[in-house]
Amino acid sequence: MDDLRETTLSRIEAATDEAELEEVRLAAIGKKGEVSLAMRQLGGMSPEERKEAGPRLNALKDEITAAIAAKKAALEDAALEARLAEEWLDVTLPARAAFRDHTQGSVHPVSQVWEECTAIFADMGFAVAEGPQVESDWYNFDALNIPGHHPSRAEMDTFYMARADGDDRPPHVLRTHTSPVQIRSMQAQGAPLRIICPGRVYRADYDQTHTPMFHQIEGLAIDRDISMANLKWVLEEFFTAYFGRSVKTRFRASHFPFTEPSAEVDIQCSFEGGTVKVGEGDDWLEVLGSGMVHPKVLRAGGIDPDEWQGFAFGMGIDRIAMLKYGIPDLRAFFDSDLRWLRHYGFSGLQVPTLRGGV
Ligand code: PHE
Repeated sequence: MDDLRETTLSRIEAATDEAELEEVRLAAIGKKGEVSLAMRQLGGMSPEERKEAGPRLNALKDEITAAIAAKKAALEDAALEARLAEEWLDVTLPARAAFRDHTQGSVHPVSQVWEECTAIFADMGFAVAEGPQVESDWYNFDALNIPGHHPSRAEMDTFYMARADGDDRPPHVLRTHTSPVQIRSMQAQGAPLRIICPGRVYRADYDQTHTPMFHQIEGLAIDRDISMANLKWVLEEFFTAYFGRSVKTRFRASHFPFTEPSAEVDIQCSFEGGTVKVGEGDDWLEVLGSGMVHPKVLRAGGIDPDEWQGFAFGMGIDRIAMLKYGIPDLRAFFDSDLRWLRHYGFSGLQVPTLRGGV
């Protein structure tokens, strides 16, 4: 029986494919295999012989079964490895020239500006945070100090998610701004905190400068002694890097439920000659809302307002894309018109940096 064990195990080890493995299996533990035949002889043995041979045969059968399973798994792994090696494809290779001329796509202005913003804020130590686009009304409103009766719920033209009859979970909305990510980041990371959150937001609105889906970039910095002065510096630094020239800003007192004090920020521009030029002239264009994070908002995010304070801002990505690249109509951003995409699209991501880098 030892011989049988040795030969069977070494044949299993030497098998190079499944068919061969199956042959070995049949010869050893198949119906007419040697182990099976030996088992059949147990009946004719004396009780003592059987007591000794029975368990040995069973153990041998188990050992062979296990060895076959292991070998089978090893053969499958090797086959997969071989296939992966053979079918390997480098998706980063540039397209062949003939192909490229006709079908290469372009980077959408929103993607371009999204990357530009992330790169500039990254230079100032802001990490990127994200949150869901379908948001609970607690995160979108209540946690931001916008209670149920507050007019800004109606002002924001919120899209509510449909509910089945009898479904009494709290309502969900398509987020109307990226500000709920402030709360999520505070809860997840605590203080100190320095994040931006670029993302899609939704409001029921449609005209030359409004689409039901658009993009915002939220900023949030929390530390022990953050002030409006830090906010002003960060924004001026940002606009200068983004527009590639120095841009004056103007802070106008305003009101948001989630900041106190609050300011709307305008950038310097000229409207002369029917086009908008940023960074020159005597006119002003509103580009974002901002302020010092309201103590109630910090508390909703699990941060102690007696110990920490911070600023927040929210800016329209599409808006500043229109300004920088002279795109007149927001609605065209999302029409997927190939001629528009070719005209306003970018061939590759080139991102600006801060004055002289940091
Ligand atoms: N969430 C505001 C909006 O969408 C913008 C904002 C963000 C204002 C952060 C202040 C602070 O209009």
